[in-house]
Amino acid sequence: MTRPLIAANWKMNGDLALAEAVIAGLAEGGGGGVDVLLCPPFVYLREVARMARQAKVDGLMVGAQNLDYHAHGAFTGEVSAAMVADAGCEYVIVGHSERRALFGESDDDVARKAQAARGAGLAAVVCVGETFAEREAGRTEAVVESQLAPLAGFFAGGGGGGGDGCDFAVAYEPVWAIGSGQSATPGDARAVHELIRRRIAARNPAAANRARVIYGGSVKPGNAAGLFAEPGIDGALVGGASLAARDFLSIIRGGYAD
Ligand code: PGA
Repeated sequence: MTRPLIAANWKMNGDLALAEAVIAGLAEGGGGGVDVLLCPPFVYLREVARMARQAKVDGLMVGAQNLDYHAHGAFTGEVSAAMVADAGCEYVIVGHSERRALFGESDDDVARKAQAARGAGLAAVVCVGETFAEREAGRTEAVVESQLAPLAGFFAGGGGGGGDGCDFAVAYEPVWAIGSGQSATPGDARAVHELIRRRIAARNPAAANRARVIYGGSVKPGNAAGLFAEPGIDGALVGGASLAARDFLSIIRGGYAD
């Protein structure tokens, strides 16, 4: 397995003081052999990327929470992949369930965004996951498969780009677990992670070995270690618990202490 990836998705929260607290904590205690990704709102990206470079913490990276797949043009309020890269980012989250549910992003849009990220030299964290009703109906695997299907070309073309030898990660985020306080059990998550890795492998065996499949949905200091101990869970995408530096650092250290 490549190094674990622990990503902070601040959503529309946080400020530069939060970034400063997290980065100072990492600089003091070290990242513990983990790659750490901070995804603040767009307006903070350039400054947080500068702070991260200055801190010289091994494995610390900055990413955006979204992008527009067009290269440029009359798309008021949108930000392109090249602009995200220009701000100093190495990563971008695409297809978060809030983008899908609240802003109408389709599976095809998500695949286009992932390709646009690659085109600008950014690694994408592609999010997939089922709703509660879909899980109750026994459709988890089918839903995740249908979300992954348009990404087949993206997976096939993957490789080599990122610093870790792979230019994407997939985040399994069951929608019912996001912000609910109720995470998936390590065993339930593992089954879906295995499915995701098989789908990547069908397109690109080398990328499947390197790509990180991370879990998101109510990851907290108290449950991180149990999730991370599960084979095939290569890290986490953390929302609420990434908004308190102490909690986020505790997830990083508790889960994968060196
Ligand atoms: P949560 O959010 O950790 O607050 O559940 C995770 C996410 O939406 O990425």
